[in-house]
Amino acid sequence: MINLNNINKGYKADLGQPPVIFKLALSISAGEFCCIIGKSGSGKTTLLNLLGLLDLPDQGSCVINGQPLNHLTPKELSIFRRQNIGFIFQNYQLLPHLSVLDNVALSLLYNGKGRSASHRAAQEILTSLEIGDLSARLPKQLSGGQPQRVAIARALANNPPIILADEPTGNLDQETAKMVLGLLREINQKHNTTIIIVTHDTSITSYADHTYRLQDGRLLLMEGNQL
Ligand SMILES: Nc1ncnc2c1ncn2[C@@H]1O[C@H](COP(=O)(O)OP(=O)(O)OP(=O)(O)O)[C@@H](O)[C@H]1O
Ligand SMILES: [Mg+2]
Repeated sequence: MINLNNINKGYKADLGQPPVIFKLALSISAGEFCCIIGKSGSGKTTLLNLLGLLDLPDQGSCVINGQPLNHLTPKELSIFRRQNIGFIFQNYQLLPHLSVLDNVALSLLYNGKGRSASHRAAQEILTSLEIGDLSARLPKQLSGGQPQRVAIARALANNPPIILADEPTGNLDQETAKMVLGLLREINQKHNTTIIIVTHDTSITSYADHTYRLQDGRLLLMEGNQL
């Protein structure tokens, strides 16, 4: 489902430093639930942005869902992303002028679903995340943690084959975090969705089939007793 090979990625601001991602390889099968842990600044968001096609590697090859991505145009990349990837951003990235419902429905509309069907599906996923009563609000009318669940609802709404999540429980209390992770696990099992979560919260690893540690720009597979 996902194959990365010999990937390098650095930032211009860090010239002279080793790249954040260095000779990284990763192979993930369809339906795997993976967790990538690593210290703050280790490159988790950088890696997830590459997997989510929000940024391009400086070097290396990337094949996702059978599609080699090196030679796609920006437009082809954006269509591929829309059809294949649900991305839960660390900083949510909700559109401030749209209601919660419209934020979630937008990706469905973009994928060709009609307006009322999009709204119905968006309301359903918000309800399953226990925030169905917030659908008419604007993002600024939410509590500190509620936008995280809206961002999760938006990523799940389209039922994408791949879900990428950047610290999806970072601003949730323990009980809500458990509910969200349980839902991700359920979606993973029901639809064979491939899920990759990056986090520094090692308790999430108990939900994952495999856990990797990002260190010195590369991924190390962790065994149970190393966590
Ligand atoms: N746009 C950028 N320009 C320059 N340097 C950047 C940029 N984005 C990230 N970095 C640097 O790259 C390194 C990895 O950052 P990244 O955001 O991937 O870490 P992270 O593991 O997600 O950290 P956190 O757990 O704090 O979210 C850091 O040293 C960071 O300062
Ligand atoms: Mg990060």
